[in-house]
Amino acid sequence: MNAKPLRLGVNVDHVATIRNARGGRHPDPVRAAKLAIAAGADGITAHLREDRRHIRDDDMARLKAEIDKPLNFEMAATEEMVRIAIATKPHAVCLVPEKREERTTEGGLDAVGQAAALKPVVHALKHAGIRVSLFIAAAPAQIEMAAELGAPVIEIHTGAWCDALAEGRDTDAAAEWQMIRAGAAQAASFGLEVHAGHGLDYASAETIAALPQIVELNIGHFLIGEAVFEGLAETVKFMRAAMDRGRKKVHAS
Ligand code: PXP
Repeated sequence: MNAKPLRLGVNVDHVATIRNARGGRHPDPVRAAKLAIAAGADGITAHLREDRRHIRDDDMARLKAEIDKPLNFEMAATEEMVRIAIATKPHAVCLVPEKREERTTEGGLDAVGQAAALKPVVHALKHAGIRVSLFIAAAPAQIEMAAELGAPVIEIHTGAWCDALAEGRDTDAAAEWQMIRAGAAQAASFGLEVHAGHGLDYASAETIAALPQIVELNIGHFLIGEAVFEGLAETVKFMRAAMDRGRKKVHAS
């Protein structure tokens, strides 16, 4: 079967988490975004949280100005965020829950319970020319509501599946996987574009990549964590070389 290409959106939130642990500017999430794009990312995802715990307003502005691939702006459906998104004009907005009452038990946005609040937000963002997606569990009622609200895209929350896999809860993982498979098929039958993300690692990304309806995966935490192991040895070697160069200057002076 000839499936559509599968895009990779790299989430750079946790580069900002590390930067913010010290304050200052290093490591810069925009530099990480450019590196990810050079390595093959099809887009960059960043979540401007209401508490600004990782990505900050000027990170989002710089991402929009400095990267040459689509920017996926994750945000809560609040007035403040809608204002910032419309001013930033990202390629896409993914509406995500931040507060307990905004989410389902699976952790996705409760599109059914929050429909009245979401409707004007989806409308305003679409009116501004921004592609809107809803980050929801692959539950039939949530998918139906996403379509009813006029969101052209859903992102299936894979967190419960990935947690079950990681914890070796095979029965739960199998049930979550069936829900994801069925949800992807249902959403595509409604004409929705289907993305997925949260908690994905190499193995789960490989598994979910086999679902033909899914056209984008957004992955952050695992990539940034794994980059420590892929990159630490090289970085220590650079530091060793810098120290050795400096030390030689003792003899030269
Ligand atoms: N997609 C959405 C909508 C998210 O909110 C997140 C987490 O910020 C991700 C994908 C990426 O999840 P992870 O960091 O676990 O890969």
